Amino acid sequence: MNAILQNDLNNISAILESVKDLSNTYLENIQGRATSKSNAEFKLSALPQTGLGYVATQQLFEEGFLDNIVASSGPRYWGFVTGGTTPAAIAGDWLAAVFDQNTQSEKGNGDVSAKLELHTIKLLLQLFELPEVFMGAFVTGATMSNFTGLAVARQWYGKQKGYDVAIEGIKSSIKIYTAVPHSSAIKSLAMLGIGSSNVIMIPTLPERECMDTKAFEYMISEHPQEPFILIASGGTVNTVDFDDMQFIASLKRKYHFWWHIDAAFGGFAACAPAYKNLLKGWELADSITVDNHKWLNVPYDSAVIFTRKEHAMLQVQTFQNSNAPYLGDPLQNFTYLNYVPENSRRFRALPAWFTLMAYGKDGHRQIVEHNISLAQQLGEALENSSYFKLAAPVRLNTVCFTIKDTNNAKEKIATLLNELNKRGKVFMTPTVYKSQFCIRAAFVNYRTTTEDVQIAITELKEVYELTK
Ligand SMILES: Cc1ncc(COP(=O)(O)O)c(C=O)c1O
Repeated sequence: MNAILQNDLNNISAILESVKDLSNTYLENIQGRATSKSNAEFKLSALPQTGLGYVATQQLFEEGFLDNIVASSGPRYWGFVTGGTTPAAIAGDWLAAVFDQNTQSEKGNGDVSAKLELHTIKLLLQLFELPEVFMGAFVTGATMSNFTGLAVARQWYGKQKGYDVAIEGIKSSIKIYTAVPHSSAIKSLAMLGIGSSNVIMIPTLPERECMDTKAFEYMISEHPQEPFILIASGGTVNTVDFDDMQFIASLKRKYHFWWHIDAAFGGFAACAPAYKNLLKGWELADSITVDNHKWLNVPYDSAVIFTRKEHAMLQVQTFQNSNAPYLGDPLQNFTYLNYVPENSRRFRALPAWFTLMAYGKDGHRQIVEHNISLAQQLGEALENSSYFKLAAPVRLNTVCFTIKDTNNAKEKIATLLNELNKRGKVFMTPTVYKSQFCIRAAFVNYRTTTEDVQIAITELKEVYELTK
């Protein structure tokens, strides 16, 4: 063994202590850490011929990078949909690296990681009160989850038309309907060879981001026997609007379609009794995307794809390693490597298992309910402010707002956000909603408090006055 590597191995305990100290310092000071760094400078070194060893490498990292790490898992990082990391999830993630299992097979691999993954899928179904008619798998994020669900949908579509997409490729155009999809669902269609422009857009209700159900039924009733794929939204990214799941569920009795729901973060509404109605009917979907690194507050990279057990064979046809006898017969023994895009896989379920067991249904319900209440607090303050107004009602955990002064709104919002983010106390991202330039603040972090909302309100007012 290389002498430097041997020395590190001999000192692994001291190394882990040092990582623990660095982690503690970071986590204890996360409230005060900047939420963004505009002019980050990095000291980048060439690959050393002789390695530095761990101690010098950590020092190099601390000197060159640490100051520029932003508090994206802190309480005031409200851009995109960025979750935090619970203590138990951090522990699970650390241990996933230590154990370094290759989570492929429930049997024969000599480890329990696939078993624990299947079990964690069941725990998540319990969290969301979904029936065990679903199976599932961990993937890297909601983009890959959408990709996986839609890949199986494509296989299903081929079967309806009498061919096997996995073997023969796509032999016909594929009919896909959607109203307000997340960009990652459209990206998935591009990756799947279906083509990002080959979607039929369903009109939305006025002032809403959900499908106009009447218009949709009218569209599909023209060809009632035709199979199609529907991508529904269980929480749009701008205004967290939900397609009418109950209505779509009722269509399942009349029409022949694969129903995929992107519930990346909106799925967590199922944890909150006052909001779970938004998802009523979703239990009839064929595939559902849920992102753990958003509202479950586990570290990146973690999402799940739920698919109905009755579609397991379609899923295996989609992802099987059909020319690898050493991997076993994919149709005989369940293995994750024939069930998802990746073959070798991280023990990705472990952080999720840790946080689910550590905080239970109540703990995770409280995170969701608290975030919703904070979004409402920010929404109310903005509605009562002289400078801002809501662009849409606060439906769940995201506040989509704009400035009252419509003159040069695009430039003004860009300047305001630039300044706001440069100050580093709170981080938000821009969007365009119904042709209006807007700002989004998404609450998905368990650490966020009412005081953080107050800090943001003060910041917004000061920055507006500074930049108007
Ligand atoms: C509704 C929805 N779907 C999919 C995604 C993509 O998630 P990821 O970046 O984890 O792939 C997002 C991200 O914000 C989202 O909000």
